[in-house]
Amino acid sequence: MSDLIPVNDLTENAARAELARLADLISRANTLYHVDDAPDISDAEYDALKRRNADIEAQFPQLKRSDSPSDQVGARPAEGFSKVVHAVRMMSLGNAFNDEDVADFDRSIRKYLGLETSTPLEFTAEPKIDGLSLSLRYEQGKLVQASTRGDGEVGENVTANALTISDIPHNVENAPDVLEVRGEVYMSHEDFKKLNERQAELGEKTFANPRNAAAGSLRQLDPKITHSRPLRFFAYAWGELSEPLADTQSEAIERLAKLGFSTNPLTAVCETTSEMLSHYRSIEEQRATLGYDIDGVVYKVNDLALQARLGFRSTTPRWAIAHKFPAELAWTRLEAIDIQVGRTGALSPVARLHPVTVGGVVVSNATLHNEDYIAGRDAKGGTIRDGKDIRVGDWVQVYRAGDVIPKVADVDISKRPEDAEPYVFPMSCPECGSDAVREEGDAVRRCTGGIICPAQAVEKLKHFVSRKAFDIEGLGAKQIEMFYDDPDLPVRAPVDIFTLQGRDATNLNKLANRKGWGAQSAGNLWDAIDEKRKIPFGRLLFALGIRHVGEAASNLIANHYGAWSDFERAVTAAANFEGPEWDELLGIDGVGEVMARALVSSFAQEAERSSIDALVEQLDVQDAKRPDTSGSPVAGKTVVFTGTLEKMTRAEAKARAESLGAKVSGSVSKKTDILVAGPGAGSKAKKASDLGIKTLDEDEWLQLIGTA
Ligand code: IVH
Repeated sequence: MSDLIPVNDLTENAARAELARLADLISRANTLYHVDDAPDISDAEYDALKRRNADIEAQFPQLKRSDSPSDQVGARPAEGFSKVVHAVRMMSLGNAFNDEDVADFDRSIRKYLGLETSTPLEFTAEPKIDGLSLSLRYEQGKLVQASTRGDGEVGENVTANALTISDIPHNVENAPDVLEVRGEVYMSHEDFKKLNERQAELGEKTFANPRNAAAGSLRQLDPKITHSRPLRFFAYAWGELSEPLADTQSEAIERLAKLGFSTNPLTAVCETTSEMLSHYRSIEEQRATLGYDIDGVVYKVNDLALQARLGFRSTTPRWAIAHKFPAELAWTRLEAIDIQVGRTGALSPVARLHPVTVGGVVVSNATLHNEDYIAGRDAKGGTIRDGKDIRVGDWVQVYRAGDVIPKVADVDISKRPEDAEPYVFPMSCPECGSDAVREEGDAVRRCTGGIICPAQAVEKLKHFVSRKAFDIEGLGAKQIEMFYDDPDLPVRAPVDIFTLQGRDATNLNKLANRKGWGAQSAGNLWDAIDEKRKIPFGRLLFALGIRHVGEAASNLIANHYGAWSDFERAVTAAANFEGPEWDELLGIDGVGEVMARALVSSFAQEAERSSIDALVEQLDVQDAKRPDTSGSPVAGKTVVFTGTLEKMTRAEAKARAESLGAKVSGSVSKKTDILVAGPGAGSKAKKASDLGIKTLDEDEWLQLIGTA
């Protein structure tokens, strides 16, 4: 990753483009990994993508996308298994890639908790098993349900399969009435080898690596097949519990071992960062001889009371981190460079490679990021790869980390064919021929064709029907491509989806007579489309695919306005980027100026507005439901913290207030409901008292939220 433009050097525009690119890559990789069990890049590459994404978000918090990969755990469950809603969300882990990241992890925890460097703080350190996570629910000592992680909230019910795994007890004694044990299903190297030999003999599909074999085996619809596959399980965490297992992580794991679960023998308790790092190195040395795949070391705060205080970010705990082993590399030939055009018109170069195996996975495509990257330049005109450009025919080094799109990291110019020409990046869109323009400070060249560009239009429609948007069953990317070019039933804009059935009816119901279709599938499609006429406000807004307006922002906006009609009125009135409606939009926590401008502009743009209006006429837009913080005395209240807090740090206070539905603001205004003032409070306290705003001290605040 060292050849990428360093995060510190990115301009805002370049950072935005990079975040869009990363969101795309990571989402594609998630699907390949979690849904298809067919990753095409390694874990290390995947992690590198996620880390870069997180670094850029840290540097440019205002650019964080609503569909940010940082907020997503995995991908949705595959069809075929029933769904399980996890009682406690199954979380992912943040990553550390070097010693400094581990030191930062320790520092950030101390900072959050307000602990001195000299205060003892224990961590457990254990191998990160490269398998797939499983949650086992025991009620009154009996295994009642086993589920995969899925997207973290909803997984697949694989109970029948889990019951065939010998490491998983069917019954446990002296356990809490409700006990959810979480851990990793994996396959040993030896068993993996035997399984692949057996598969090959039978002429059946072989697996790329033990992780895929484990995933493929666990997610068999026929439990007999799972039973014939030698799967194992390590317990390392828990979900819902009717009573605590212990006071510390290490004791809780010991308790799980006593209950009959396999736990990893390399788990240690460390008292300092340097002990954590030396345990990491010791595990790394043993890696080759363990007999199963691990891809790093997981550190967890040992004290469970501290874990509870630290809590979670959107998808990862603050109290744990995975320290990953370094990525894998391979050399191969670059056969061609293709340009893909995305939803926002970005021209993305893709390397077509002579297939090469990197860490057990065959790689034939890799990202080349943008034209500067190919030319060996960074966004500021400096050099990357010592200024070496990349040409078709070159030997390139492919870097694979995590399970997403690999990257071309380096080029060996000593092997460059004599006739290799420098790559000329297209100045026009390969799809529609419009000019492709690179704005000042933007790393990405974009097609200016807008809706006349079929690639952009198709990508926009694909986004419109995607899972987090309209999610219409039977109308996915493939069908969108088909309908887009359909001579009888073209779908060129979102509204066309909802007029399809009517148009087909006046067209003698031709769809039912098509090859691959039939009355039943056509009928199913009409039903699926009709089902989505009723759509939540937030989803609709996200589906429109307005630049910078992602899923989280769409929901924030929907929650703020409540009704679509109120939002529409406000956004129309804000057309000149001024006035009370404009100020109100900007005042929504999480809506920055760039996003607000994009939103207002797209509603002010005539063609776009009439397309939205026509669509909305076909729909029944549901008012936004506010998150359920019923029972919270501070839900919907705007709270400002000032002065010194003594019981917790500002970060902890803010996180807790937000989890109770309060909005935390940095400054006092008429909109402030509560000022929490600690010792040393100055001008904010004065302003609050001038405005007659309720002021509480820290204890009164804790009493109010019920945690005194
Ligand atoms: S702890 C709340 N410990 O890594 C945190 N996870 O990248 C729960 N994994 O989803 C996870 N070994 O599937 C934990 N020793 C270990 C692990 C481990 C493997 C997996 C797990 C998790 C993923 C995150």
